[in-house]
Amino acid sequence: MSNKRKDCIISLPCLEDARKKNIDQNTIYRNYYFVDEFLKSFGIGKKYFIRTYGCQANVRDSEVVAGIFKEMNMLETQDISDADIIVINTCAVRENAVDKMFGEIGSCKAYRKNKCQVCAVIGCVCEQPDNVEKIMSKYPHVNMILGTHELPFFADNLSKLLQNNYKRLINVKSQGGSVYENFPSMRQNNYKAFVNIMYGCNKFCSYCIVPYTRGRERSRLMEDIIKECRDLVNNGYQEITLLGQNVNAYGKDLKNGSSFAKLLEEVAKLNIPRLRFTTSHPFDFSDDIIDVIAKYDNIMKSIHLPVQSGSDEILKLMARRYNSKQYKELVDKMRKKIKGLTLSTDIIVGFPNESEEQFEKTLEMVDYAKYESAFTFIYSPRKGTPAAKLNDNISDEIKHERFNRLVKRLEVYVSNYALSMVGNTYKVLVDGPSKSDKSMFSGYTESNKLVHFKCDDSTLIGKIVDVKILESHTYSLIGELL
Ligand code: SAH
Ligand code: SF4
Ligand code: F3S
Repeated sequence: MSNKRKDCIISLPCLEDARKKNIDQNTIYRNYYFVDEFLKSFGIGKKYFIRTYGCQANVRDSEVVAGIFKEMNMLETQDISDADIIVINTCAVRENAVDKMFGEIGSCKAYRKNKCQVCAVIGCVCEQPDNVEKIMSKYPHVNMILGTHELPFFADNLSKLLQNNYKRLINVKSQGGSVYENFPSMRQNNYKAFVNIMYGCNKFCSYCIVPYTRGRERSRLMEDIIKECRDLVNNGYQEITLLGQNVNAYGKDLKNGSSFAKLLEEVAKLNIPRLRFTTSHPFDFSDDIIDVIAKYDNIMKSIHLPVQSGSDEILKLMARRYNSKQYKELVDKMRKKIKGLTLSTDIIVGFPNESEEQFEKTLEMVDYAKYESAFTFIYSPRKGTPAAKLNDNISDEIKHERFNRLVKRLEVYVSNYALSMVGNTYKVLVDGPSKSDKSMFSGYTESNKLVHFKCDDSTLIGKIVDVKILESHTYSLIGELL
């Protein structure tokens, strides 16, 4: 009999299933996970390393995985070569994020020869069949591949892998998904917290992979979210960011009268000093949400409102569900009703066959909305999405040239806003020593501007202080602590 170790393939991703629009398992599970005795003794004296790519949803997921390791009696290490377990939490939204991940898992091979017993790749990349095939054939040292829906069962999967001495374990489900409560968690920060209010996305914008990797839109119950937020307030947290791919759609699936406006108001009433939320889709941004934002001082007036394009034709091809006129009306309404509003956005350049004229509509939109901050991306085809099937007659060179032009145009407004802050005093939530200059501390204003200021008092970390702005750069400010 051969003693060759076996693979354990529980489930592989399937784009057909991921594409299904119905919610197949919208159930709330409260008692689902536990860390068994085997893992608890396995973990003693061992260390873990987690690398996180992608959005805040992934950051929060990594905090859950860290919480499971904590229950396994493991300690975190920042030195990947010293880790017994390596977890790479991946993002599939653009090809460059996927490339970075492959680079990183390539370098894990050396660690697996030494100390590392488990190299796990988890998250959105694992929901794509091609990527899983590639990992399985080219990166045999990766011995656990788990999809986003397996996060609640991370410990069960790990225990199965180790107890059975499998060569590797692959478990990726493509499904609508469920809601799980009572996650273990090790928050990365003790004054700023991310709180999921919903999972998944139903929008299916034609370029975007997220609905396929994260399943259907499903909301947590208001009472569960409020309890989590209340605990954070009681523990001294200064800032909560409510998370969802499309927070304005919160509650629609619950069909019990819950809505984002109601939830936002209830959380604001808990008196958390700073309340943020992301991401808002322009389509569902109703008046009652705007009114709640305007009403509560502790709801930050910096709102992320991705426009993606200023061209009606492109917006239609993107399946964004609004046109440029509707977006502009929304911006007008928000600027009028919300005092001190700052807007940020996401823009994609080089959607298939985007003409010069269509691109110029995006520049026009930038001039109209005068964004105080923006993220810009070059379109990246995602296999399995409708846009990836379109032929594209625009060269990379043209796309890069437009990208640079767009960034320059955005910088006019971003710099103007930064300049308008000079001489004024703002409340800054202190994060600690600045990454580039250790003699400076940094933090964020209510409008989410990064400020550096001279300070060496570490007791101020996690506190909100007054900083007078002395100098402005496009993406950051220099100030003085008052
Ligand atoms: N749910 C959020 C964020 C999704 S991903 C929203 O709808 O705004 C974050 C950003 O990545 C998107 O806003 C979009 O600008 C960008 N993005 C998504 N898919 C992309 C793709 N295929 N190519 C380039 N950028 C993309
Ligand atoms: Fe992607 Fe659109 Fe959903 Fe945002 S709303 S996650 S861009 S499909
Ligand atoms: Fe990336 Fe997945 Fe978030 S694809 S942007 S990590 S939901």
